[in-house]
Amino acid sequence: MTDPASSRTARAVECRICGGTVSEFFDFGRQPVSDSFVRPESTGSEFFFRLAVGICTSCTMVQQLEEIPRQEMFHEDYPYRSSGSTRIYEHFERIAGNLLDVALTGADPFIVEIGSNDGVMLKTIQKAGVRHLGVDPSESVAEFAKADGVRVRVGFFDEDSAAQIAAEDGPADVIFSANTTSHIPYLDSIFRGVEILLAPEGVFVFEDRYLGDIVAQNAFDQIYDEHFYLFSAGSVRTMAERFGFTLVDVEHIAVHGGSMRYTVARPGQRSPTAAVGEFVARERTQGLADPESYQRFASEVRDNCAALVGLLRELRAQGRTVVGYGATAKSATVLNFCEIGPDLVSHVCDSTPAKQGRLTPGTHIPIKPSEAFSAPYPDYALLLAWNHADEIIAKEQGFRDAGGRWIRYVPHVHLV
Ligand code: SAM
Ligand code: TMP
Ligand code: ZN
Repeated sequence: MTDPASSRTARAVECRICGGTVSEFFDFGRQPVSDSFVRPESTGSEFFFRLAVGICTSCTMVQQLEEIPRQEMFHEDYPYRSSGSTRIYEHFERIAGNLLDVALTGADPFIVEIGSNDGVMLKTIQKAGVRHLGVDPSESVAEFAKADGVRVRVGFFDEDSAAQIAAEDGPADVIFSANTTSHIPYLDSIFRGVEILLAPEGVFVFEDRYLGDIVAQNAFDQIYDEHFYLFSAGSVRTMAERFGFTLVDVEHIAVHGGSMRYTVARPGQRSPTAAVGEFVARERTQGLADPESYQRFASEVRDNCAALVGLLRELRAQGRTVVGYGATAKSATVLNFCEIGPDLVSHVCDSTPAKQGRLTPGTHIPIKPSEAFSAPYPDYALLLAWNHADEIIAKEQGFRDAGGRWIRYVPHVHLV
């Protein structure tokens, strides 16, 4: 296991939100693009960057120190499909239903989704006959949405595209975004776009992984290229104000190992709910604004990774078979930081056709279809998709019935 942080002084850069100083607290070293699953014949052409994370000592926004070009991550070959999980599909069906009941009730409502992916959320809006537009640069996944009748603009949402959408379609009553806002370093441009496109009484609703859960559960692998920011209620409230908006509601949600839904409106349009103040206060108690909290987090990450590598080496020495389950984007962080390759985990099973037959980025572990998991079952399975644990463990009950054990590493290494 490499630990670049121990061999050099941490760096500081300018905060992407407020221009303050970002103080680095963890360096995962050289990492590949997390969703760039390599063809076996193309392993020489991977893009690498330094994955390091820090906290702004002025606005408390936790963010990465290096920004990689957006087209390296999101392009016509982007493989991630939101509809791969039944639970996630149901989650977005529910959200669309709520938006239709509560926010899209006017004469001719209009909703724009930033990062609409395969149409997982907008499908329900489209079926209800409500005016909508998905915006997503990844043509591969946008095609699935279009095939379901969802209206998609293939491209990046930013100030310029927002102005074009406003000119063509008029103001949006809701701008929605899930697991995308935190992926976008240029949030100043996004908020200028929201300023142009949002109707006077409209809301910008976005949900993303929650920093409070990441720290509490030592969920270090939620840190990877796409998660440029790790949001909290406190940092989002400050950011919204800086960009001319008000954070009016927060709702903690269980998906993806712990997320938060933020609702932002124009100033004076809505009074913030009690939940906003409550979460900000809770975060203060948890120490999310204190740089010292992250030193503790960093030391737990190192201990956790050492324990995981120790266990995998021991199982290998005993001749046990170990495979990975779920070629998640977050697995790039744990596999590359811990230097776990095909010698420790023979292959990874995943249900996404676009990932199968390829290799994990950086560590080059072969990816096989889910059906390979039971042919035959391994002795141990490293649950890389731990955010879908309930769904996967229930679906793969046969593995445990056959004597197999799951290896989990969040919040600490344990077998189930
Ligand atoms: N919203 C879906 C969900 O929650 O499952 C998809 C999330 S996926 C992790 C992130 C998506 O955001 C990708 O489909 C990517 O192409 C898209 N994306 C990245 N930057 C974007 C931008 N500036 N504007 C619109 N979409 C963007
Ligand atoms: P995510 O953590 O980014 O949602 O990615 C989950 C990955 O795990 C995705 O590649 C699909 C895969 N997966 C399975 O292989 N089987 C499953 O049952 C589920 C829920 C996900
Ligand atoms: Zn800042």
